[in-house]
Amino acid sequence: MSVFNHDVVIVGAGLAGLRAAVEAAEYCDVAVISKLHPLRSHSGAAQGGICAALGNEEEDYPLWHAFDTVKGADYLGDQDAIEIMCNDAPRAIIEMEHFGVPFSRTKEGKIAQRPFGGHTRNFGEAAVRRACYAADRTGHVCLHTLYEQCIKRKVRFYNEYQVLDLCETDGVVCGVVTYNIRTGDINVFNSKAVMFATGGFGRAYKTTSNAHANTGDGLAIAMQHGVPLEDMEFVQFHPTGLYRLGILVTEGARGEGGVLRNQSGERFMERYAPTVKDLAPRDMISRSMYLEVREGRGVGKQKDYINLDLTHLTLKQIETKLPEISTFAKIYLGVDPSKNPIPVQPTCHYAMGGIPTNIEGKVVYNEKNDVKVGFWAAGEAACVSVHGANRLGTNSLLDLIVFGRRAGKDIVKFVQETKGKMPLQKDADKKVRTKLDRILSRTQGESVGKIREDLQQMMMDKVGVFRTEELLSEACRDIKKLRERAKNAVVQDKGKEFNTDLLDAVELEFMIDYSATVIEGAYHRKESRGAHAREDYPTRNDGEYMKHTLCLVHEDGSSELSFKPVNMKLAEQDWEHKDKFKPKERKY
Ligand code: FUM
Repeated sequence: MSVFNHDVVIVGAGLAGLRAAVEAAEYCDVAVISKLHPLRSHSGAAQGGICAALGNEEEDYPLWHAFDTVKGADYLGDQDAIEIMCNDAPRAIIEMEHFGVPFSRTKEGKIAQRPFGGHTRNFGEAAVRRACYAADRTGHVCLHTLYEQCIKRKVRFYNEYQVLDLCETDGVVCGVVTYNIRTGDINVFNSKAVMFATGGFGRAYKTTSNAHANTGDGLAIAMQHGVPLEDMEFVQFHPTGLYRLGILVTEGARGEGGVLRNQSGERFMERYAPTVKDLAPRDMISRSMYLEVREGRGVGKQKDYINLDLTHLTLKQIETKLPEISTFAKIYLGVDPSKNPIPVQPTCHYAMGGIPTNIEGKVVYNEKNDVKVGFWAAGEAACVSVHGANRLGTNSLLDLIVFGRRAGKDIVKFVQETKGKMPLQKDADKKVRTKLDRILSRTQGESVGKIREDLQQMMMDKVGVFRTEELLSEACRDIKKLRERAKNAVVQDKGKEFNTDLLDAVELEFMIDYSATVIEGAYHRKESRGAHAREDYPTRNDGEYMKHTLCLVHEDGSSELSFKPVNMKLAEQDWEHKDKFKPKERKY
């Protein structure tokens, strides 16, 4: 067994992983493991901005930001975590600026800010400019900047290593088992602390803005180690994916003044969200778009898309503020957005749920929030629950750097207080070797690609924007069948180097495991809240469902469901704004 030793192992090189690494590398020996080159991480695809109540363009306060986040989350977000994130946001942005992020600027040279969905001034009065941006390449520049900061601090990168398992000794997490994609070798890492920042799982859906690598591996691995996943039923569809492709067209386009129009050219969001219109939160806009299409007002021959109209913006505005999406529209759809509207449709974009953590990024594994020692998580893979049932645009990048840093700090404390590393079990890599041998030994069966395609189509059709008991019951049956089919999936490539065929099979098993938690959560939550829209239970039911779902799916497909309370700190503490944070009907 070949073993690498480090104080800290961080899996995932997106913004959460890199921000934690920057923090920890000041004091410890840190390794970052990534299945891609770090600069290919999906954080780099974030376009429109990262929010903070800097008040550079107009009056704004962290309190308003917290109010919007609580309301946007349909009151399911943990208010202690939301308060931390919104209060820390201005500091975090200035820190990123000092690290070197080339933000777009106002005329006075301050960081420029644009409006984004659900961000308002004065507790919902009108849209506010809170999203700091670098044209429409915000995630890209943040990723490059943090990578440089890691290099400066001598973080050790292991690129093109796929994580396959966690190592545990006496219940303490003490490393990971990886597969070196280049050589096919299995390696074991022994560390005092392991952090998962493995990203989201949009690839479980057919139409998605997510990169091919976003297969949610970390979630399934955590679950195999007894950690139930939290709030998995809340899956966000971004309103504007390029028609048929799902590639993101930033909400910043609407922040710059773009509008959504149906077949007759009507700006239909005026009907659904009269105050903020096209800048309503994503769950509402995606549902409105589906309804327009369903009621025959969609655009195109098949009346199945909506137009995003930017033709009234100036060429300069498009070229300087939206260059990326303008290029995408031209290359992929042959549409010049300065002349014609861009065909768009909702695309699976973001997972609000994930590996449950506390506000220091420590992984917790039950309703009492007991800590899994040696294990941290942050970013989209995690659920510290700042997004609740629906995330506001630009709160994701913020979550990554705020809670990535907090996890990094907490890890340093743990490493400094912990004498030696827990030793690895003698055969720490046995489970992984057996699994890979099992997959490689099959000679007859279905291709992995076909089973994955069926999974993605099923999730799209039955666990998408609108859900019903009937569809979810079917999904429960379908996922069981897919699990059985995956047991006989065959990989053609039996070699060692760059065997992506084999990795596809491994990822497929992960995808089936956590997709089952999405279905279970959605089936049992008999209400509509945020991104979870049950047509058979169209209203929110705080009496029964103001609680987080915890779902554990076992290897045999059986599942356990439990619940834990939502933190209501801001609504319950004795202060002047208490009433603002109490649950009420969400109107925009
Ligand atoms: O629309 C966007 O630019 C996406 C931002 C986000 O998901 O936060």
